[in-house]
This record gives sequence, structure tokens and C-alpha cells, in this order.
Amino acid sequence: MNITIVGTGYVGLVTGACFSEMGSHVTCVDVDKTKIENLKNGILPIYEPGLENLVIQNCKEGLLHFTTDLAEASQSSNIFFIAVGTPPGEDGSADLKYVLGVASEIGQNIDKYSVIVDKSTVPVGTADKVRATIQKELEIRGKDVEFDVVSNPEFLKEGAAVEDFLKPDRIVVGADSQKAAKIMQRLYAPFSRNRDKLIFMNVRDAEMTKYTANAMLATKISFMNEIANICEYLGVDVENVRKGIGSDRRIGYSFIYPGCGYGGSCFPKDVKALIRTSRDTGFEPELLASVEKRNMIQKKAMIEKVVRRFGTNLSGMTFAIWGLSFKPGTDDMREAPSVVVINSLIEMGATIHAYDPVAMEQARKEFPENLFSTKKIELFNSPYDALDNCDAMILVTEWKAFRQLRFSIMVEKMKQKVIFDGRNLYDPEEARENGFEYHGVGRELKFS
Ligand code: UDX
Repeated sequence: MNITIVGTGYVGLVTGACFSEMGSHVTCVDVDKTKIENLKNGILPIYEPGLENLVIQNCKEGLLHFTTDLAEASQSSNIFFIAVGTPPGEDGSADLKYVLGVASEIGQNIDKYSVIVDKSTVPVGTADKVRATIQKELEIRGKDVEFDVVSNPEFLKEGAAVEDFLKPDRIVVGADSQKAAKIMQRLYAPFSRNRDKLIFMNVRDAEMTKYTANAMLATKISFMNEIANICEYLGVDVENVRKGIGSDRRIGYSFIYPGCGYGGSCFPKDVKALIRTSRDTGFEPELLASVEKRNMIQKKAMIEKVVRRFGTNLSGMTFAIWGLSFKPGTDDMREAPSVVVINSLIEMGATIHAYDPVAMEQARKEFPENLFSTKKIELFNSPYDALDNCDAMILVTEWKAFRQLRFSIMVEKMKQKVIFDGRNLYDPEEARENGFEYHGVGRELKFS
């Protein structure tokens, strides 16, 4: 099958690489010339385990191509994936300008029956807008070309995206025509060999499925963060509560880890967009609004603890930050709690020593250059070097490399022996036995 994928961001690139791995001919299109040139040379814009190999290998095999020219790609293809960004507008709604821009271009180029697949996460009703946009372009050209618009949301976790794509739990396809559904079934057959993973529904249902999945997971996290806060007032250890409830199969162990709030490119944006969509219909989504609010407060949970311990004037103090990406396994810092933590500490006069196993380059782009030149933020090559002369260590992202603390090195390096454990990675008792003051999430009395 010949597929065109428009947008070589995170979703587009993974989709393109994985389809080519399963034998389809894939052309990835992007307006960014440098990005395309780099990709042709095997240089990827993102870090994702396994992706580089797939790209390089399938380019060599002649199954994966990169171009800036959609017109050229559309000559050999009749399946178009739209995988461009839908950034939040000022009111929280998903901005569709890139999606509809691509739809226009597709309308300007197709000459035979085509299936246009919305892969980007888009609000309910977007497929109708994509259809109308393509139809308008065809009318301008005076062409009568048959086409279908399909919704095929992605459920890829950063850090495991290739694995998630190649071995999906389910493949949701929203199609309003048998013809398009059949093409999608053939396209995904290689991913669905052991059991039928395709779930067909109509287009609007598929659009809503994606938002609901992310909103549900975000709700689990915010719920647990709220419970952690209540635990702090009651002197209860939320970690025991977590284990106690997770063993109930109806609840499960996943997505009930309290922490510094959820980040990334999906949850914050999608919860906001669903709230907006809901309000636009006239329905006030009380629960989702609280999920979002709890998350914003939670990103400052560690800061609240720092202030309670050290006050609001932190000038002359240095804090080590372990973990900058929004979660382990990625260099992505979008909506990362670390950014909120670092900015708040700097505002209160502190200096930052930061370390992350993969997001250091990303961190350089995330903060203004003057913070580095004035040494308000210094990046270190090892977590333990970052502890030099620090008044406290704040763990923000639970990378595996941080799981075991080397207390003897920490004792030597740190000025004050204080740990703020934003992911409840450590045993409070062990930390205390080694002479450290320990502050976790939901596991000490708030006013002790
Ligand atoms: C998510 C969805 O899981 C994926 O299906 C969708 O397509 C895109 O959004 P991703 O953003 O990569 O994927 O990250 P995920 O692993 O889901 O974690 C999201 C955030 O929740 C992270 O900030 C993580 O630290 C936080 N989290 C997760 C918690 O705070 N507690 C948990 O128990 C689980």
C-alpha cells in the first residue's frame, strides 16, 4: 500500500516508520526543509527508543521516503494521514489551522479516490471540517473526486511509542463508509494478526474516544494527587493506600501514582480541549475542570514544601533538580513539572543545579539563555555532581538511574541533607537512617 503521512512530528514519524516496517510504501511530508533533509540523512528530531533504527533501515530498503512536496507524494498514494499539531488556542480549544491547511493542500492535489485519515487529536466534528475543506478545493479545481475522511486516533506513549504502534492494545477506526473501512482494515492487518484489534465505529465516536481515554487517565492521576493531599492532613502514607487500592482489579495499579502532576504533549492539552468542547455545547464539565485545576496546583506541591521548610526567600540557596523531562524515557519537556518547579525556585532567589539523563539539550532550549550565562541554572553531567553544595535535592522525574540513592556520596556533597521526593521513589525511613530529612508526596503530616 502507498501511504502519505503529513507532519513528521512525534506521531507522524512513528506512524510512518512503523507502517514502512510492516511493508507499506510510506512518504512522509513536512514543510520544514531542514527537518526533511536531516531525516533523509538519518537524523531524527526526537528521541524515541527504537525509532532511529526503523527510520534508517526502512529508508535503505526503499520503503520510507521524506519530502517537502505533498503534490509529488500524492501522485502515487491514495491514503493520506494528517498528523500535524493541534496546539491549544488561548481559550483552550484545539487550534485546527494546521490540520485544515493540510486538508486544503490534499484537496488541491488528489485526482483519484482517496482516504484521508485524521491521526492528530482533534475535537469531535473536525472530520466534517476536513471533508468540507477538501470538497471546497475540489470545487475550485472543478474536479469530481470521491474521497472519505476517517478518524484513527493514536494511543502512543512517549518512550514506548514504537512498541505501542507495532503491538497495539486496540486500533480505533471511525469510518462512515464501507469502502474506507475496508482499506483501513487492510492497512492495519499486519498489526492485527494474532487477534482482531480493530474497533470500528463512526467518525465522531472515534474522535471522542481519544479524548475520553486521555481524560480518564488524567482523572486517575488527579484523583490520586488529591488523595495524597488528604493523606498529608491525616498523617497517612499514600503509598500504602495506593498499593491497597491497586490490588482491586477494577481499579488497577496503573496511573494511580501520586507525584508532581501530569505533563507532556497530550494530557494537559486534551483535557483543556475537552473542557472547551463541552462548554461550547453548553454543558459545564465540573469533574474535568477539577482534574485540570488539581493538576496545576499539584505542579507546585514540591514548592509548597520547600517554602514550608525554607521560607520564601531562597537567595543564596542552591537546589539540585533530578529529572527534567515530563516523564522518564523521553527528552520531552512540554508542560513538564520541572519547568514550574525551577521557575518558582528562581523567582524566590534560588540557584539551580540540574541533571537529566536525556533532556539536557532540551533544557537549554526551554529556559532563557541569561539564566545559564548568569549561572542561575547550571546543567551537570551526573546526578551526584549536581548535588555539589546544595541545600536540598528535589526529585521531579523518576528515571531508573535515580532509584537507588548513594547516600555516602550525597552526605559528602550536599550542604544540607534534605530530600524532596516528588515521585515517592525513596523509602523515607532509609533516608532518615542515613541522616537525611525526607519530604515525599502524601506521606507525612502537613503541619508536623
Ligand atoms: C499519554 C497517553 O498515555 C497516550 O495513550 C496518549 O496517546 C498520549 O498521552 P504520554 O503523554 O506519553 O501518553 O505519557 P504517559 O505515560 O501517559 O504519562 C503522562 C503523565 O502522567 C506524565 O507526566 C506522568 O508522569 C504522569 N503520571 C502517569 C503520573 O503522574 N502518575 C501516574 O500514575 C501515571
